[in-house]
Amino acid sequence: MTEEINQNYPKAYQQINTATMASGFNMASDVLTCSLLKTLAASKPSGSFLELGTGTGLSTAWILDGLDEQSTLISIDHDAKFLAIAKDYLGDDDRLTLVNTDGAEWFKENEGKKFDYIFADTWHGKYLLLDEAIAMLNKGGLYIIDDMLPQQNWPDGHQEKANKLIKDLESRDDLHLTKQVWATGIVIGVKK
Ligand SMILES: C[S@@+](CC[C@H](N)C(=O)[O-])C[C@H]1O[C@@H](n2cnc3c(N)ncnc32)[C@H](O)[C@@H]1O
Repeated sequence: MTEEINQNYPKAYQQINTATMASGFNMASDVLTCSLLKTLAASKPSGSFLELGTGTGLSTAWILDGLDEQSTLISIDHDAKFLAIAKDYLGDDDRLTLVNTDGAEWFKENEGKKFDYIFADTWHGKYLLLDEAIAMLNKGGLYIIDDMLPQQNWPDGHQEKANKLIKDLESRDDLHLTKQVWATGIVIGVKK
């Protein structure tokens, strides 16, 4: 066995990837993580999905590929330029709602909403407002983060933030947690 992905990539993957490279966006999740996101997405038929940090829509495309027709995905980002790429290639998918907003604002306006799957790929819901994000998970819901192993683009002090986040997650009694030293470093929690 190798890590090679020998299954189909999302239809729009190459186009989004090309547009992403042209845009200068360099924070996209790696393809192994994206494949995991898709696989786990398929475990929640008729599910409510949330992605915090759309970027240009690369991870969004993979999550959508794992969704059944009855599922819905909300994906938010504060950067309209990058979000426009996601809109161009994925905007026709009725299951997807792309929201151009600040993470803090979104949490304020959506208190009480529940999800079966949260991919927290920006500050809010990960390094900020973690409690609020976990509170939004239904029982059995998945909480997924990546980039937990040291990354080249981490600024000074980020390692300490990452260490603290891991400790915070480990100390919670409302999540079953698995840390994977694989891809960019993945943590998966399932809400008790
Ligand atoms: C790691 S990237 C997301 C990458 C994307 N999920 C992917 O895998 O292709 C993080 C994203 O968070 C967005 N972001 C940063 N601060 C934010 C904020 N305060 N509110 C909303 N989005 C924010 C950035 O614009 C960026 O697109």
